[in-house]
Amino acid sequence: MPRFVGFVRDQYTALPMPPVPADIAQQTFVVTGANTGLGFQCAKHLLRMGAGRVILGVRSVEKGEAALAAMRQETGRHAAGEIWELDLQSLDSVESFGRRLGTLDRLDALIANAGVVMTDRQVVEGIELSLLVNVVSTMLLALRTVPKLQESARSFNTAPHLVIVSSNSALESDMKGAVPPAGSDVFDKLSEKKGFGTFTQYPKTKLLQIYAVRQLALLLPVAASGVVINAVSPGLCYTDLDRNASPPAKVVLAIMRKMLARTAEEGSRTLLHAALAGPDSHGAYCSECRVKNEDVPTWITNASGKATQERVWKDLLKRLDSLGHGVDIAALAGGQVV
Ligand SMILES: NC(=O)c1ccc[n+]([C@@H]2O[C@H](COP(=O)([O-])OP(=O)(O)OC[C@H]3O[C@@H](n4cnc5c(N)ncnc54)[C@H](OP(=O)(O)O)[C@@H]3O)[C@@H](O)[C@H]2O)c1
Repeated sequence: MPRFVGFVRDQYTALPMPPVPADIAQQTFVVTGANTGLGFQCAKHLLRMGAGRVILGVRSVEKGEAALAAMRQETGRHAAGEIWELDLQSLDSVESFGRRLGTLDRLDALIANAGVVMTDRQVVEGIELSLLVNVVSTMLLALRTVPKLQESARSFNTAPHLVIVSSNSALESDMKGAVPPAGSDVFDKLSEKKGFGTFTQYPKTKLLQIYAVRQLALLLPVAASGVVINAVSPGLCYTDLDRNASPPAKVVLAIMRKMLARTAEEGSRTLLHAALAGPDSHGAYCSECRVKNEDVPTWITNASGKATQERVWKDLLKRLDSLGHGVDIAALAGGQVV
């Protein structure tokens, strides 16, 4: 089936709510970018489902407080929910958020949802901003969270989840070859002015997320680490994601949304599914509230795709290291990675 036809069919697919875990009242969830859009709806669902502790990772405490007040009002969970500050433009902020997560008694899922679309190219920490927020910071946060998820798996005999919210736009055929070839640094190259554009940069960042999730899941098998790691695409949804987009880009998106988009509430069900999915979702691409690896093109999964995945991973770790935020993967893998 042509990809676009499949996309249209998917957008009209009814999305089920996942069953509520029996012990949800004991569980702790963290949702980043939870003050609005998909993150807001996802956090609200978790509160309504009876989650014991829901932490909203937000860059504006003020916006977070307003969002939490609305969630409390709508769910009747007046004492539940917490606001923790997190700015993914700053790796130091990611580190302090990660340290704070380390103090939790228990963590059942990190839903790394916050993300941006940029129209104007800005460079922060030497990296184009959407690449920094969507990939470098998001993966640093994920890596810093793994020890707490592993500890929770051991202590409570559960399978905590690490969910990265990606996008189906990463899998379009024009993304084939989007990762620069060997010999150039992925993050330097994709931060350059040449090749930057609203409709090209965002899917590239989402593609790097998918490669990174696949590689991390490979390095930390669920059987050994106890943590389910997956990527999810919420599909096209009505949110403010295009707030930084140029007027022409906004018009194109508005037309597409009018015809095809889900509400943010519907889209958020895909995040819930990924956060509660079984171990078969480890390393997987999820969408439409199911594991949907068949949507991942062969140019990602074949030998050349695997080589690209390893290069993305190597350059990511190298970049984190050079910015003073090194990650000891061998330690995360219990000494099994060399
Ligand atoms: N909507 C769609 O059609 C669609 C499709 C595919 C994938 N996605 C993905 O879904 C996720 C959620 O997007 P959305 O559609 O809900 O968009 P949204 O309404 O724009 O929400 C994005 C969230 O990310 C936060 N954020 C942005 N930059 C941040 C930073 N530097 N530090 C911390 N938080 C930051 C935003 O905070 P502020 O409010 O403070 O800016 C907001 O809470 C994103 O990863 C997006 O790529 C969305």
